[in-house]
Amino acid sequence: MSEAKPSTEGLAARQAALNMLDAVLRRGQMLDSAAQKAAAPDRPLALAIAGETLRRLPELDQLIDSATWQRLPDDSKARMVLRLALAQRIALNVPDHALVATALPLVDGGPRRLVHGVLGTLLRRGVAGGAATLLPEAVEARWSAAWGDEAVASGRLAMVRRPPLDLSFADALAAEAFAAANGGVSLASGHVRLQGGAAVTDLPGFNEGGWWVQDLAASLPARLMPQAPSRVLDLCAAPGGKTMQLAAAGHTVTALDRSASRLARLSENMARTGLRTETIAADALEWRGGPFDAVLLDAPCSATGTFRRHPEVLYRARPPVIAELSELQSRLLKHAATLVSPGGTLIYAVCSLEPEEGERIVEAVQDLTLDPIGAEELPPGIVPHERGWVRVLPGMLEAEGGLDGFFIARLVRPLA
Ligand SMILES: C[S@@+](CC[C@H](N)C(=O)[O-])C[C@H]1O[C@@H](n2cnc3c(N)ncnc32)[C@H](O)[C@@H]1O
Repeated sequence: MSEAKPSTEGLAARQAALNMLDAVLRRGQMLDSAAQKAAAPDRPLALAIAGETLRRLPELDQLIDSATWQRLPDDSKARMVLRLALAQRIALNVPDHALVATALPLVDGGPRRLVHGVLGTLLRRGVAGGAATLLPEAVEARWSAAWGDEAVASGRLAMVRRPPLDLSFADALAAEAFAAANGGVSLASGHVRLQGGAAVTDLPGFNEGGWWVQDLAASLPARLMPQAPSRVLDLCAAPGGKTMQLAAAGHTVTALDRSASRLARLSENMARTGLRTETIAADALEWRGGPFDAVLLDAPCSATGTFRRHPEVLYRARPPVIAELSELQSRLLKHAATLVSPGGTLIYAVCSLEPEEGERIVEAVQDLTLDPIGAEELPPGIVPHERGWVRVLPGMLEAEGGLDGFFIARLVRPLA
């Protein structure tokens, strides 16, 4: 392979992608927030490259290791640049000459010969992606132990598929009409699933606010609230997906969150959809009020269930992080129990695929009893666990486009 001529076309986007990868993998940032630093014209391509790199990182590293005598350190610039280049070949079909021309200037004054050599070897061999990829080794080991190898295989597949776009509607009839008019599929009342990558703001009815974006799994906790209108506390509410569902179902909702900026987004969402709630900016662990007929605790968590849209969560969720979150979730649940009336309902939910944040939290709870969730309360294809809670795993509704990973339990505070 002859050395490609330096080209500045697309180089700024590759540099931005390299900065994003560095921010995510070395500084633990979320990709969307790392992307804010990129210049607007470079951002979409840079995000696509960094995102595809994160989706396929273990597979890309295997390729790189197969072409080097000495293993490149994980955080070396050479490895980062090679990862980005290979991801462009595998997932974005960038021609070899273009990816070489935009990779080498990123290592100017550094390991340019090494990167050129490894890339040349791999491109001559031919690199192609499959229908699935590997998840990080530690995640595969954890999920295999917790959920079995089938769930891991489904996770590998889900990681490279484009997740569908799920919309929640305030009005179930409007959802049916929207699905019929826009080629969508409805998998539950008030739900529409669209395939393809249309921009959300371009979809019909965005400005009218009859719907909002929400993964079907994320819509389950609010669906499991008792249906009679009641006073509901949404504790950890922002940006308000579940608050909107609860308000649309006729409940009088108090939405509490610690983050004022996220609560501002919740208020914008409520304004766009014309739904009402009281908002409170406070630390849920300290706040006292109520009691409420029902409380929804959608607790802060590792969010590993959202890996299809945010592959970087799998690199952030290291065991000490999970342990710390699990401790916080137990404290939040214990305090939430004091805010429910005797006989009232408390729904605990996390978008995590770690049992330490789901099953283990609920098994340890003392002041509440489980109110088993019935299969008839869930969309077809999602089956409650025999213990009465819902564990949504990779592989569920796979043919329909899958779901985020979630854990949901419905609990009741016993009458005094
Ligand atoms: C999983 S998100 C909630 C998503 C939201 N329920 C929805 O459906 O759109 C968790 C939220 O918990 C909030 N949070 C974290 N710790 C908190 C605390 N101690 N008190 C109150 N809110 C907290 C975060 O600001 C974040 O908005």
